[in-house]
Amino acid sequence: MTSSTEVRRRTGGRDVRRIVYSREEIGARVAEMGREITAHYPEGEDLLVLGLLKGSFIFLADLVREIARPVHVDFLVAASYGSGTVSSGMVRLLYEPEADLAHKHVLLVEDIIDSGKTIDRLAPMLNERGPLSLELCALLHKRISPSAVLDARWVGFEAPREFLIGYGLDHSEDFRNLPFIASL
Ligand code: IMP
Ligand code: MG
Repeated sequence: MTSSTEVRRRTGGRDVRRIVYSREEIGARVAEMGREITAHYPEGEDLLVLGLLKGSFIFLADLVREIARPVHVDFLVAASYGSGTVSSGMVRLLYEPEADLAHKHVLLVEDIIDSGKTIDRLAPMLNERGPLSLELCALLHKRISPSAVLDARWVGFEAPREFLIGYGLDHSEDFRNLPFIASL
């Protein structure tokens, strides 16, 4: 349990509406996901875990330690055009992984799927590079619209349609370091 005093200390005085997922709940769920991912991929085949920055950095760091097989790790930086809290659906890559994706299973790791537009744009770009397989793992899914391109095989939590912060998720770059997930 995190007291309200402790929450305010961590947020710099900002009140959150409620804690949606505690540190303990997140840890337990991430461990489960790690076990499922470990069991899914055949032994001896290469697995590249590809994190979408910045939001996935904490989730990915915890998740890969729960995957009990060899993995490689790389990141993608995507930016959607425009600003604000509504994504425009236009995505460009600011950083591309050097890694050759051919002959590798690629597991894309996302913090939260909201409209799904980011993934809908990214998945075809990655598929063009001919990975052995392309799967998506998201800590949170808001189920706003069904994905036309790539559905998440692993979802940590079915998230409420509220603006969430913490455990990598930001509001204007704040709050990424909260160890829990809260509704702002
Ligand atoms: P999508 O393209 O609409 O699926 O947007 C996904 C991206 O929007 C995520 O990777 C987050 O960076 C951001 N996002 C969506 N919902 C939230 C939220 O509740 N809190 C913080 N960031 C969010
Ligand atoms: Mg963000």
